Amino acid sequence: MKITIFGTGYVGLTQAACFAEVGHSVCCVDIDSARVSRLNAGHSPIFEPGLEALIQTNLAAKRISFTVDATQGIDYAEIIFIAVGTPPGEDGGADLKQVFSVADAIAAYATSAKIIINKSTSPVGTAQRIKARVNEGLARRHLALDMRVVSNPEFLKEGSAVEDCMRPERIIIGIDDQAGIDIFRELYKPFSRNHDKLIVMDSRSAELTKYAANSMLATKISFINEMANLAERLGADIEMVRKGIGSDSRIGYDFIYAGCGYGGSCFPKDIQALRRTAAEVGYEPHLLDAVEAVNHKQKHKLFENISKHYHDDVSGKTFAVWGLSFKPNTDDMREAPSRVLLESLWNAGARVQAYDPEAMNEARRIYGERSDLVLAGSKESAVEKAHALVILTEWRNFRIADFDELKAKLIDQVIFDGRNLFEPSRVKQAGLSYYPIGRTVVRAGEA
Ligand code: UDX
Repeated sequence: MKITIFGTGYVGLTQAACFAEVGHSVCCVDIDSARVSRLNAGHSPIFEPGLEALIQTNLAAKRISFTVDATQGIDYAEIIFIAVGTPPGEDGGADLKQVFSVADAIAAYATSAKIIINKSTSPVGTAQRIKARVNEGLARRHLALDMRVVSNPEFLKEGSAVEDCMRPERIIIGIDDQAGIDIFRELYKPFSRNHDKLIVMDSRSAELTKYAANSMLATKISFINEMANLAERLGADIEMVRKGIGSDSRIGYDFIYAGCGYGGSCFPKDIQALRRTAAEVGYEPHLLDAVEAVNHKQKHKLFENISKHYHDDVSGKTFAVWGLSFKPNTDDMREAPSRVLLESLWNAGARVQAYDPEAMNEARRIYGERSDLVLAGSKESAVEKAHALVILTEWRNFRIADFDELKAKLIDQVIFDGRNLFEPSRVKQAGLSYYPIGRTVVRAGEA
C-alpha cells in the first residue's frame, strides 16, 4: 500500500521505516530540509537501535523516500499519517500547531479523498477537530472530498522503538465511522502475527487511551518512589518490597523500579497535558497531580542525598556522573533527571565530569563549553580525581563496577546511585559509602 507520513521524529520515522520494511511504499514529509537531506543519504537523525539500517535498506529498495514538499506527499497516497510534535504549550496543554498545519496543507492541496491518521499524541477531540478543519479548508476551495480522520496513538518506547513497532502489543484504531476499518486490517496485517492486534474504538476513547496508558505507567513509578522514600525512613528495603509486590500478577514486575524519577519526552508532557484537559472539563485530577509532584521531588533526591552527605557544602568538589540520557539505549536528555542534578551541583559550586555511552553530543549541544563540565571519554576517566560518583542511568555496562578501583580513585569514596545498580552489602564490603534509593545507606567505616 502507498502511505505518506508527515513528521520524521521518533514516531513518524520509526513507523515509516517499519511500514517500508514489511513491503509498503512510504513517502515521508518533513519541513526540516537538512534533516531530509541527511535521511535521503541514509543517516538517521536520532539514535535508535536498528533504525538506520532499516532506512538504508529501504532507501536502496526504493520503498521509502523523504521530501520537504507537502504537495508531493499529499498527492502520493490516499493514506496520510500525521506524526508531528505536540510539545507542551504555555498553559501545559499540548500545542497542536504542527498537527493543524499538516491538516491545513491537506485541505489546501488535496485533490482526492484521503484517510488522515493522527499518530501524534493529542488531546481528546483532536481527530474531530482535524476533520472539521480540513472540511472548512476544502469548503473554501469549493471542494467536497470524503476525508476520514482516524486516531491511531503510538506506544513505542525510545531505545526499542523498532522492536516495539514491529511487534506491537496492540494497535489502537479510533474511528468514528467503523465502515472503513478493513483498510487498517490490511495496513497493519504484517504486524499482527498470531492474532489480530487491532483494538477498534471511537476516536475520543483512542485519544484518551494513550494518555491513560502513560499516566498509569507514570503512576506506577511515582508509587514505587513514594514507597522507596517510606522504606528509607522505616528501615525496609525497596528491592525486597518490589519483588514482593511484583509477584502478584495483578501488579506485575514492570515499571516498579524505584529511582531518581521518570523523564523523557512523553510522561512529563502527557501528564501535564491530561491535567490541563481535566481542568478544562472542570475535573480536579488529584492522582495525576500527586504523580507529578512525587516525580518532581524524586528528581531532586540525589542532590538531597549529596547535600546530606556533605553537610550542605559541595563547593569545589568534583562529581563523576555516569549516565545523562533519561534512560538507557537513547541519547535523549529531555526532562532527564541528570539535568536537575547537574544544574543543582553547578548552582552549589561543584564541578561535573560526566560520561554517557550515547548522550555526549546531546550534552554538548545543551550545555556548550563550560568550565565546570568535563565530558569524559569513558566511565573510568570520569572518576579520575573526582570526589564522588553519581549514577543516573542504568546503562548495561554501568552494572559491573570495579569497586577496588573506585575506592582508589574516588577521593571521598562515596557513590550516590539513582538506579539501585549494586547490592549495598557488596559496596560495603569494598569499603565505600553508598546511597541507593529506598535501601539502607552504607557509610564506610560503620559496622
Ligand atoms: C513511554 C511509554 O513507555 C511509551 O509507551 C510511550 O509511547 C512513550 O512514553 P519512553 O518515554 O520511551 O516511553 O520511556 P519509558 O521506557 O517508558 O521510561 C520512562 C521513564 O520512566 C524513564 O525515565 C525511566 O527511567 C523511568 N522508569 C521506568 C523508572 O523510573 N522506573 C521504572 O520502573 C520504569
